[in-house]
Amino acid sequence: MVYIKSIAPTNIAVVKYWGKNPKWEKYLIPLKSSVSFTVQDFYTETELKANKGTGNILFNLNDKAITPEMKEYEYVSEMFGKTFELFPNTKNYDYDVKSKNNFPTAAGYASSASGFAALARALQGAMKELEPDFYSKYMANDKLLSVFARLGSGSATRSIPKKGGFVMWKRGINPKKQGPETFKGEELNNQIFSSYSKTLVSPDEWPEFRLIYTKIEEKEKKIKSRPGMKSSVQTCPIYNDWVEYEEKTAMPAVIKAVKEKDFPTFAKLAMQCSDGLHAVMGYTYPRILYLNEKSQELIDAVNELNAGEMKAAYTYDAGPNAIVFTLEKYENQVIEQLSRIIPKENIAVTRLGKGSRITKVEK
Ligand code: ADP
Ligand code: DP6
Repeated sequence: MVYIKSIAPTNIAVVKYWGKNPKWEKYLIPLKSSVSFTVQDFYTETELKANKGTGNILFNLNDKAITPEMKEYEYVSEMFGKTFELFPNTKNYDYDVKSKNNFPTAAGYASSASGFAALARALQGAMKELEPDFYSKYMANDKLLSVFARLGSGSATRSIPKKGGFVMWKRGINPKKQGPETFKGEELNNQIFSSYSKTLVSPDEWPEFRLIYTKIEEKEKKIKSRPGMKSSVQTCPIYNDWVEYEEKTAMPAVIKAVKEKDFPTFAKLAMQCSDGLHAVMGYTYPRILYLNEKSQELIDAVNELNAGEMKAAYTYDAGPNAIVFTLEKYENQVIEQLSRIIPKENIAVTRLGKGSRITKVEK
């Protein structure tokens, strides 16, 4: 028996991931690279026990037993299922997983990102002890491990790198490239491990950076990210142009601005990338609309605040709640402006944080 405890933070994308390569949908290979910030204060802690067995999985989330007919079980068992398929020796164990998020689950804080990153990290710890050959070939570093997190949820891959901070998830396979639909041997290494995450800027390089989480609405989203992005890939007429523009123009510019700590340039690009994502969603058939009136009010308030000098940037994912990027020196002013729209208790400030790691190992 081996017992591992791990921790992984959530992350928030600036240049967004929204669409999988249809050919490798199952392996969650994206059609576009993305970049995100690792968040300091919202995280998942996962305990994993592995015993000799036949691939049975027990899962407990936030102190509640999750049974096989529940959606949350399906996600976790799918991740293990893909691992068993690609690396059959991992099926020689039974797994008992207990996971806890220190923030609301399925409420737009990206619990799936931290959840699957923590699970992948715990699995890495277990394999190091139980299957050293498999571990050293496929899991021994963050680049490899980020692929395992991706098998659970795409955005989870960006929560893996230990350094955290500003992370890039590379698209990997060129969507135009032909290849087999299933991965084996060399192809497995070339293809499935070509889409991974790495830190570009560590948190201590931009300590003044702040992320302000706003809660506009707590309701579950009507359309989950997974079917939503699939529909955009299939029906949005501007999808390929958006991918091309972000991959070649927007993302390199965002990376340059963050590396240079050029907040005004970064802020404008970040808002445009968020608006671009929501334009793609709006031009999907049937139309996907995540933002509501309050979200638009917040956008107007941020633009008003930025009239003289760039002080803040909003970003939205698959929901109406904004995350606002700013710097320490503008923090109070930004909160004042936001609190004209949202009660102060629904505003939380955090910073850039470190990535996932193992916190305990027992044999
Ligand atoms: P969120 O905005 O929180 O990411 P999603 O609907 O995208 O919302 O993902 C929430 C789902 O992610 C949960 O319903 C559950 O299936 C999965 N999830 C959340 N936390 C964990 C965790 N700690 N371990 C494993 N899976 C998790
Ligand atoms: C809008 O990672 O939740 O937050 O890979 O299907 O699990 P799956 O989707 P998920 O999608 C996140 C989409 C997003 C943008 C982003 O985080 O880049």
